[in-house]
Amino acid sequence: MRITAAEFVTSAVTPAQYPVDVGPEVAFVGRSNVGKSSLINTLLNRRGLAKTSATPGKTRTINFFRINGRLGFVDLPGYGFAQVSRAERATWGPMVAQFFQTRQELRGVVHLVDVRHPPTAEDQRTRAWLLQWQRPLLTVATKVDKIGRTQRPSHLKQITETLNLDAESPVVVFSAQTGEGKEKIWEWIGEMTGR
Ligand code: GTP
Ligand code: MG
Repeated sequence: MRITAAEFVTSAVTPAQYPVDVGPEVAFVGRSNVGKSSLINTLLNRRGLAKTSATPGKTRTINFFRINGRLGFVDLPGYGFAQVSRAERATWGPMVAQFFQTRQELRGVVHLVDVRHPPTAEDQRTRAWLLQWQRPLLTVATKVDKIGRTQRPSHLKQITETLNLDAESPVVVFSAQTGEGKEKIWEWIGEMTGR
């Protein structure tokens, strides 16, 4: 897709704060620091549009972006970051659950995992949790620039097995550093949103 405009719309915690008229949406979910905001920036060719950080827990609210005035991206806060306060951890579930429950515009969910490590127990729980909302899921194995080519097959096999992925559960390898995988992710987004 040719991107003529990409803008940050708003940050929200409750449904009343969600924007209207954004168009069909795709949300990005994954562990804190896995690279959700970096993926969004890479897809949109906009460095720094979604705020990234080497410190986990950068994105704490639901952040909405609008592309070409007719497609929405939703940067969700990361899970699994031990250093956030207990109160904050307790709000992640309800905040994100409410989003999935109420957001009619949501057409697909990109679940990011770190290609370097086997998916964590929390990655597994999150996948199971995401499946219940019955939205199409795409698994993205990110930071692939950090492993050698010869390591890829075994790492992907482990991800496929640990997350119980099958022929109908696509996995795309991706790197925000090199842009590898970007076209495939756009293709999936196009299929899900009709944009
Ligand atoms: P939270 O908002 O804290 O949940 O994190 P996030 O998932 O949005 O991660 P973010 O995009 O902020 O990236 C975290 C760190 O990983 C940053 O230092 C990024 O530069 C780095 N990073 C993200 N993607 C890649 C990638 O594909 N390759 C490499 N080498 N580094 C990456
Ligand atoms: Mg982030």
